[in-house]
Amino acid sequence: MTSLEIRKKFLEFFQSKQHTIVPGAPIVVKDDPTLMFVNAGMNQFKDIFLGNAPAKHPRVANTQKCLRVSGKHNDLEEVGHDTYHHTLFEMLGNWSFGDYFKKEAIAYAWELLTEVYHINKDDLYVTYFGGDETENLSADEEAKAHWLQHIPEDHILPGSKKDNFWEMGETGPCGPCSEIHIDLRPADEKAKIPGKQLVNTDHPRVIEIWNLVFIEFNRLANGSLEPLPQKHIDTGMGFERLTMVLQGKTSNYDTDIFMPLIDFLANLSGEKYGTDSKKDVAMRVIADHLRAVAFTIADGQLPSNTGAGYVIRRILRRAVRYGFTFLHFDEPFLYKMLPVLVKQMGEIFPEIVSQEKLVSMVIKEEEEAFLRTLSQGLKRFEQYLEKHPDAKQIDGLFAFELFDTYGFPIDLTQLMAQEKGLTVDMEGFKKGLESQKNRSRKDAEKSADDWIVLLPEVNGTTFVGYTRLSCEARIVRYRKIQQKKQTFYEVVLDQTPFYAESGGQAGDTGVLVSDIETLHVVDVKNENNLRIHYVKEAPQYPNVVFQAQVDEKKRTLIANNHSATHLMHAALRRVLGTHVEQKGSFVDSHRLRFDFSHFSKMTEEEIKKVEQIVNAKIRENIPAKILQNVPIEEAKKMGAMALFGEKYGDKVRVVIYDPEYSVELCGGTHVPATGQIGCFKIISESGIAAGVRRIEAVTAETAEKYIDDQLEVLKKIKSNFKIQQNPVQAVEQLIQENNTLRKEVEKLQKEQARHLAAELLGKAEKVKDVLFLAQKTDTDPSQVKNLVLQLRATADNLVIVLAVENKGKVNLAVGISDALVKSGRYHAGEIIRKIAPMIKGGGGGQPHFAMAGGKDVSGIPQAFNAAKNLL
Ligand code: ALA
Repeated sequence: MTSLEIRKKFLEFFQSKQHTIVPGAPIVVKDDPTLMFVNAGMNQFKDIFLGNAPAKHPRVANTQKCLRVSGKHNDLEEVGHDTYHHTLFEMLGNWSFGDYFKKEAIAYAWELLTEVYHINKDDLYVTYFGGDETENLSADEEAKAHWLQHIPEDHILPGSKKDNFWEMGETGPCGPCSEIHIDLRPADEKAKIPGKQLVNTDHPRVIEIWNLVFIEFNRLANGSLEPLPQKHIDTGMGFERLTMVLQGKTSNYDTDIFMPLIDFLANLSGEKYGTDSKKDVAMRVIADHLRAVAFTIADGQLPSNTGAGYVIRRILRRAVRYGFTFLHFDEPFLYKMLPVLVKQMGEIFPEIVSQEKLVSMVIKEEEEAFLRTLSQGLKRFEQYLEKHPDAKQIDGLFAFELFDTYGFPIDLTQLMAQEKGLTVDMEGFKKGLESQKNRSRKDAEKSADDWIVLLPEVNGTTFVGYTRLSCEARIVRYRKIQQKKQTFYEVVLDQTPFYAESGGQAGDTGVLVSDIETLHVVDVKNENNLRIHYVKEAPQYPNVVFQAQVDEKKRTLIANNHSATHLMHAALRRVLGTHVEQKGSFVDSHRLRFDFSHFSKMTEEEIKKVEQIVNAKIRENIPAKILQNVPIEEAKKMGAMALFGEKYGDKVRVVIYDPEYSVELCGGTHVPATGQIGCFKIISESGIAAGVRRIEAVTAETAEKYIDDQLEVLKKIKSNFKIQQNPVQAVEQLIQENNTLRKEVEKLQKEQARHLAAELLGKAEKVKDVLFLAQKTDTDPSQVKNLVLQLRATADNLVIVLAVENKGKVNLAVGISDALVKSGRYHAGEIIRKIAPMIKGGGGGQPHFAMAGGKDVSGIPQAFNAAKNLL
């Protein structure tokens, strides 16, 4: 079976068991602060498990792109070194939301593996949760009993909490689990050691393929387990491992999922896969990492210096570094592999097809930048060796600097050290690493108490803020949190007019007022489907009814900016072309920021055109048409574009300003008619990554103020000119005049210098065959060198000593004609050293010119005499 068929069979099987096949979630998680990337298929269903959201279908199945590179589940260091871990992998999963439980989950898994995929039953082992005293949980005899219906007892093994109690993160849904393992060893090895002894021992040929989790609890921040209102099934099967098993390979990388990438890479590097273990690791790492990087960028996450973007940048750099060190790529190469990936995965994940150009540009630019950093780091390493010729060991903190500033992983530094017969002080390196970790932990620290639940029967928040800016509200739950050394209270209400930050629109601010107290809402965010109000004060009387009131002024400004963003998006597509796609957007009460794909800097004309179109649409005063609950396919037919990396439901909200002009999928708050925006002005256009531009713009009174400020500047400029009608011409004229005058001044200065030189030369006296010129002059001290150099060139037997007084100090300059220098008779540097003490100073210089500074003006005649005597 090809991998394509294997995936298809999985989905078809669960469809036949009444499961709805749903799309996977975008890789980057946007509304859950406990998670950066999707790390399991169940993430997108977390709210359903916790009882915060209703299930749309009782049974679902899908394939989910997962990234396990940070947080609780992190496989990064294993990748490439073994043959069955990945950064990005597909998890095939089936779920029951309060529907079937252990019995059916076990029966389905068994049927699929043994009757559809025809895996040999004797090779399979299953585990179940053996209980845990500290958690006060007994063994999962129920799961064991269900397994006994399918598989002999000696293939059923109890497991510890570590292996058989699955948790999504530090907090959140969890429960006992039952894993299915497979023994892939040859018969003779199986005869020697029974497979059951090797389950969960990291044996490369006895591995887990499927995990069935029986979700029953919520892990709270205080560490305790809270039973959930309903019991659920959450399963995950590693697609790449399953394919390895079914294709009879010994490594995931030998399957048709990875082989095309490895073959391409082998070809490109001129190496053969399977001949050198280090090069093999490098090829596996690169093939794996390319998938992670490409899919995450396609899902809308650009590499950057913070958060998810930084993780992606590091993975990309890790791949480049393996290529650089082991396959000798010193030019960008990753982006060249992209077409192979697109060809292979495009059918199932169309985002990689439509985003190919952008992904390719972004990867290539990242590669180039990192290769530059790498070569700077190599230089730094060479300098270090030069400075420490006798070192036997590379200083640990220096190794950390290479790591931190130049992106050198420690094994690269070790390798380079080894080539020079050196070792690396690992203790020192670890210290550096540790202190960095502590720093970033402190930066990110957020601690939360457990929720205080006041209205357990209320499930979720009703949002009334599309039509109203205030309403009555009761506190459903609240808790104290500590973030960046500040204390806030997270408050969930039964209903609210407050918009929670999402889709790039900032959260509302405002107040919650009761008869007794006023609580200030500083921000509102969506977390796991809970609309969280960040409040400054602890509610003293949380059980009373509050009036929730949004700051109206701010909301209006936000709506202006948000609607203007839509008008601008449409204008950009008209002016630049339909390749323009939104890559990021943020609107608050001050301005709007919009990132979009476009491959060159916008010209002044293009910017002006966009502004003109948007302002014309504002003047048309187009009324908003907002449609709720439109089936997504219908919305797309209307011309709305779905963004990659955004999660959409089956039904969406559509915001329309003229169906022929702007139709967008959007949950934001908007102006009732475009006239309210008043005015639109772009204030900057810049590049933020390869192929991604950023526009910042302002609207309404902010735009007015921006224009006023510019006019004010103009007015000031004008008031300085006599011709007020045409300030541009006046400024141009001024610049021209200035240039002419500067030239004139330079000419005059030169002339003056010539006069001075002639005058000075007239004062020279003959000392033997030498013309000796010793004079005080009142030239500007900065000009004295020029003067001396000019003078010495006028004859071939000159020795010049000039003195310049300046604010009670004195400078001496000595110049000697070339012929005298060449004959070796005189040396300006030596003369100055001898005469400088007379002005209580010191100096030096070259044979033809030297200078000294001193503080005794009265010593000048003495210095002149001394010079003469020297001659
Ligand atoms: N959520 C379970 C896992 O990731 C299925 O293993």
